[in-house]
Amino acid sequence: MLLEVKDLKVSYGNIEALHGISFTIDKGEIVTLIGANGAGKTSTLLSLARLPRPEAPLVSGGDILYEGASILKTEPHVLIQKKMMVLVPEGRHIFGNLTVQENLQIADFPHRKDVNRVLITGEIQEQVYGLFPRLYERRKQRGELLSGGEQQMLAVGRALMTGSDFIMLDEPSMGLAPKLMYEMFRALKQLNFVKHITIFVVEQNAKVALDFASRGYVLKTGELIAAGTSEELAANPDVKKAYLGG
Ligand SMILES: Nc1ncnc2c1ncn2[C@@H]1O[C@H](COP(=O)(O)OP(=O)(O)OP(=O)(O)O)[C@@H](O)[C@H]1O
Ligand SMILES: [Mg+2]
Repeated sequence: MLLEVKDLKVSYGNIEALHGISFTIDKGEIVTLIGANGAGKTSTLLSLARLPRPEAPLVSGGDILYEGASILKTEPHVLIQKKMMVLVPEGRHIFGNLTVQENLQIADFPHRKDVNRVLITGEIQEQVYGLFPRLYERRKQRGELLSGGEQQMLAVGRALMTGSDFIMLDEPSMGLAPKLMYEMFRALKQLNFVKHITIFVVEQNAKVALDFASRGYVLKTGELIAAGTSEELAANPDVKKAYLGG
């Protein structure tokens, strides 16, 4: 078991956003968490990544186990340094005034002191460009001039530069034209298949998410209401009605 979330409760001040959710992710899996606006998807990811952001919720109950050990007290930079996980956040957050190439290189920051890393980084960068040829074509272009889809690819590329083999994505399909969206999911699938990277993807777009993942969970106002293989969820009448347009 890579990740085990046990009865996780998280709050923003007095408001509880997750009311005790439990789920697991195995090494090498592609798992999705689907849910509507405000269901608590981003809150789930932020509590896993443990980012010290002002907008991040506080864990008020339960536990998050990584390979069997609680990470509730682990500092977020340690999670990145030890390549335990990396989050591609909602809204991408790439650096608009830096080039594509610089955006990728900056992700190497936690490892700067390690001389061997320079070589490894070059190798990963080539893999990222191999995965997203569009990024290579636009490597000298400033981030802010990329299309939304290209920015999303860059955000994924930057996450890969950390060398982590567990990647979490917050609504990567958001705002993407179908062609770019499929290009991106195809690249992620290839990463999973070739490099055995574990993927946890949070999506409002249930159809796309269930096509992409092999297994999933359904979140509704802070509670998990269904779980199963993608086929099971796609055939579940409640899921169909609420998330797949009937
Ligand atoms: N910074 C915050 N302060 C207070 N409440 C918040 C904050 N962020 C989120 N919430 C509340 O927590 C609940 C879950 O929000 P969350 O952002 O996790 O939902 P989501 O599933 O990611 O939604 P979306 O699909 O719109 O991104 C919502 O009721 C939301 O209003
Ligand atoms: Mg969200």
